[in-house]
Amino acid sequence: MNLAELNKIAQAMVTPGKGILAADESTGTIKKRFDSIGVDSTADTRRDYRELLFRSTDAMSKYISGVILYDETIRQTAKDGTSLVKLIEQAGSIPGIKVDKGTKPLPFYPGEVVTEGLDGLRERLAEYRGLGARFAKWRAVIDIGAGIPSYSCIRANAHALARYAGLCQEEDIVPIVEPEVLMDGGHDIDRCAQVTEWVLKTVYEELYLARVQLEGTVLKPNMVVPGKKSGQRASVEEVAEKTIRVLKNCVPPAVPGIAFLSGGQSEEEATAHLDAMNKIGGVPWKLTFSYGRALQAAPQKAWSGKNENVAAAQRAFAHRARMNGLATLGQWKQELEKRAA
Ligand code: 13P
Repeated sequence: MNLAELNKIAQAMVTPGKGILAADESTGTIKKRFDSIGVDSTADTRRDYRELLFRSTDAMSKYISGVILYDETIRQTAKDGTSLVKLIEQAGSIPGIKVDKGTKPLPFYPGEVVTEGLDGLRERLAEYRGLGARFAKWRAVIDIGAGIPSYSCIRANAHALARYAGLCQEEDIVPIVEPEVLMDGGHDIDRCAQVTEWVLKTVYEELYLARVQLEGTVLKPNMVVPGKKSGQRASVEEVAEKTIRVLKNCVPPAVPGIAFLSGGQSEEEATAHLDAMNKIGGVPWKLTFSYGRALQAAPQKAWSGKNENVAAAQRAFAHRARMNGLATLGQWKQELEKRAA
């Protein structure tokens, strides 16, 4: 393991002004996104859509530090034969790869899941490194509900995250450690804070036991928000304060940066929350984004599978990327959204 190299990559991933584009939707997930814009999901349409994003050269070079790819995408070439990995590198951005194999029900724990994908991971990581990946992602999923999450679910998922992170570092690949507490439930914001704290404390204990070097990692957590079905809304300030409070209680300063997932927040909410946290400041890590839906909803809609819409889709993507880039600096303003609209 080359810790100096890992730290350099991790620092680059969380460069102020920039963040990560999560374009690693599995074939099933991207099909759902394409269904909602009336586009057939084929290897070619998936390629065309992702090529459009990665060729948004101005946005990519100014605001996107890295891109998380899916197994299919890291092997694909653009229409002109250039590999998609090369397009990302040419824009000065870092290619990464999702390596988990999704979730499966946890036996004897109804309603809970554990993320799979450790078998053969060492060999897959070596291959992905050869294909250009310099960082990886593994997502653990924790749901909040009646009687859940359980200790066993949190422990099993944290252990798997730590095993994954160790294998990544052995291969000189920076692990994005993603324990996502879902915002789907009917819980309030304080319950989200309590569970997120429990999860993060367990994750950092497991990372320690696995001898993972935190300087060569990036954390990708949820923000602390009320559950979608709670009918409650929290102010931007409350989300920012409660999220920072939990992170300060759990995440060692050796971690270079925290790149939030958007998790079903609206695009503008995700930006406003990140911006508010950076306006509070005074934290030992860089705070940035690793958004999927909150970066792609607008460009997907603008594109809708039509060639003649590519430029409009690229403009929509560039706008969201710029807004989130500003949020990493605490320099976003809501009127910038109105002007663009
Ligand atoms: P969202 O920002 O859409 O939650 O996706 C980020 C991600 O990579 C989830 O694993």
